[in-house]
Amino acid sequence: MRKVIVAGNWKMNKTAKEAAQFFNELKPLVADVKNAGIVIGAPFTALETATRETAGSNIKIAAENMNAKESGAYTGEISPLMLKDLGVEYVILGHSERREYYHETDEIINEKVKSALAHNLKPILCIGEKLEEREAGTTNDVVKTQITGGLKDVTAAEMANVVLAYEPVWAIGTGKTATPEQAQEVHAFIRGLLTDLYGKEVAENVTVQYGGSMNDANAADLIAQTDIDGGLVGGASLIPEKFAVIIKAGD
Ligand code: G3H
Repeated sequence: MRKVIVAGNWKMNKTAKEAAQFFNELKPLVADVKNAGIVIGAPFTALETATRETAGSNIKIAAENMNAKESGAYTGEISPLMLKDLGVEYVILGHSERREYYHETDEIINEKVKSALAHNLKPILCIGEKLEEREAGTTNDVVKTQITGGLKDVTAAEMANVVLAYEPVWAIGTGKTATPEQAQEVHAFIRGLLTDLYGKEVAENVTVQYGGSMNDANAADLIAQTDIDGGLVGGASLIPEKFAVIIKAGD
């Protein structure tokens, strides 16, 4: 059966020193977690500290973005080889903030997803509709376009290393969580879409996280839904005590 994975996304928060402090506090709180996968997405500047501080623990580290290329004249960019060199295991790709502020298209995101997989990094591919798209009744169309575009030419075998994160944009950082029923409805649609694309066996094994104002109070109800397999947590992942509660809700 598919794995529940609770991932934090720190976004542009925490220095390396603050990251070390965070892991010192989180590690004992989650040392007994057996079933849930635990991932922290940290900014590039904290990745080395993060992989060092979590070595030998049950916490894995994600980057929050990467360039699809291995090296070259791409000022300011970070390659998959550089992430592997630091011991990073996951990479968050296609987050709505990257799509909105840095104009990442499904085509660009697809290149990154394929590059991540080719370099043995596990992509956490983010998808989700904006408020106006939900109100226009096009949520499923938007999600379908993002998934088919983001996963273009990704094989069924490679899907074993792909995590999806459904994050309705209107719920991110707003305190407006999707209700468990609203989220489950889209997650079930995603599972159906994955079944069409890859067949039932593959679809049943893909971890599909929910993200958008998930916190220590609402995580258990969301993760209890049939097709919600953990969370991608922004604000609440910055505080060890709160994040530990969310992890335990998925364990
Ligand atoms: O990647 C995480 C999401 O953007 C959710 O952020 O939990 O602060 O709403 P949030």
